[in-house]
Amino acid sequence: MYGRKNDHRNRNVLREWAHTPPARPDSQRGSNSRRRGNVTDLVLVTGATGTVGSAVADQLREAETSVRVRIATRNPSRTDANAEGDDSETVEFDFERPETWGSALEDVDRLFLVRPPNVGVDRLREFADAAARVGVRHVVYLSVLGAGKNPLLPHYRMERHLEGAGVAYTFLRAANFMQNFSEIHRPDVVEHDEIFVPAGGGEMGFVDARDVAAVGVAALTEPGHENRAYDVTGPEALDCDEVAEAFSDALDRPVSYPNPSILRFARRMRSRGVPYPMIAVMVVLYTVTRLGLSGRVSDDAERVLGREPRGFREFVSDCADCFRR
Ligand SMILES: NC(=O)c1ccc[n+]([C@@H]2O[C@H](COP(=O)([O-])OP(=O)(O)OC[C@H]3O[C@@H](n4cnc5c(N)ncnc54)[C@H](OP(=O)(O)O)[C@@H]3O)[C@@H](O)[C@H]2O)c1
Repeated sequence: MYGRKNDHRNRNVLREWAHTPPARPDSQRGSNSRRRGNVTDLVLVTGATGTVGSAVADQLREAETSVRVRIATRNPSRTDANAEGDDSETVEFDFERPETWGSALEDVDRLFLVRPPNVGVDRLREFADAAARVGVRHVVYLSVLGAGKNPLLPHYRMERHLEGAGVAYTFLRAANFMQNFSEIHRPDVVEHDEIFVPAGGGEMGFVDARDVAAVGVAALTEPGHENRAYDVTGPEALDCDEVAEAFSDALDRPVSYPNPSILRFARRMRSRGVPYPMIAVMVVLYTVTRLGLSGRVSDDAERVLGREPRGFREFVSDCADCFRR
């Protein structure tokens, strides 16, 4: 059903769990020339129009490899792939429509897998199984910090499934994205000069989604990342007063943190038309932060990338224009 089945695929997946990422040799630090993608590799990027997936697709296209990129989206006509000079291909793909899976997976060697918040884990598991059946060799899965230990998280269930799916896997257990402020929380900054999240006094190890993508690209194009899990955080943990200070400095206008209750946060989100399930996900994540459980910082990204991940002030400075009125 899902296209060709090649018997050359090596399915002897190492079951050995290794958490510590390999340190990059000094000779390879800070250079794109380290990329080692197999010239025949075709990578299917799901979530490719989203925050991390779009950066993965861009970085794969820019990397010094001949890895081919296939963009998966429900609306191929809305993507700008296939523009002049862009040799990536775009395919119609919907987790909820298995009839789209076959052409999306045809000839694919590696998969960047994103679970959209509106798609259930069961669907994602079926898709991962389909990918394994047609010979995808390696799945790089965008997970969330803490998913290794917290069975309440959907990502926990997905990770455990991938461990037994018969493919090599790499889990990117990402901290809160800095880009949440330029996307879902942007109107609070632009219209109210506020950081309006119910995080209490908790700290977060914010990571720039571009760095999450860079770790994913390394896993997709270099050897040695199979069957590993990376805690992908930024270089420091910040509370929301410090976040507001970073915005005030970069934007040259006062931005405050009113420390809203969960109820006030939910009401404001609702007034902007944010769907209830999305609000619920954010409330859970910020409750974890309120409890002081989001402040961990890891050096996994630095070890994989051979450079320090971007700090929060760099993110705000890069995106300053999007916060101006
Ligand atoms: N935000 C954070 O701070 C954070 C931190 C750690 C982990 N995460 C995890 O990151 C993941 C989300 O990644 P993201 O923020 O990069 O994504 P995103 O920006 O929310 O974009 C969602 C993507 O999913 C695609 N999509 C939606 N429904 C689909 C469907 N039915 N079939 C196929 N594709 C579908 C969309 O593509 P089309 O519309 O083009 O089809 C879009 O590219 C979640 O699993 C979340 O738990 C988030």
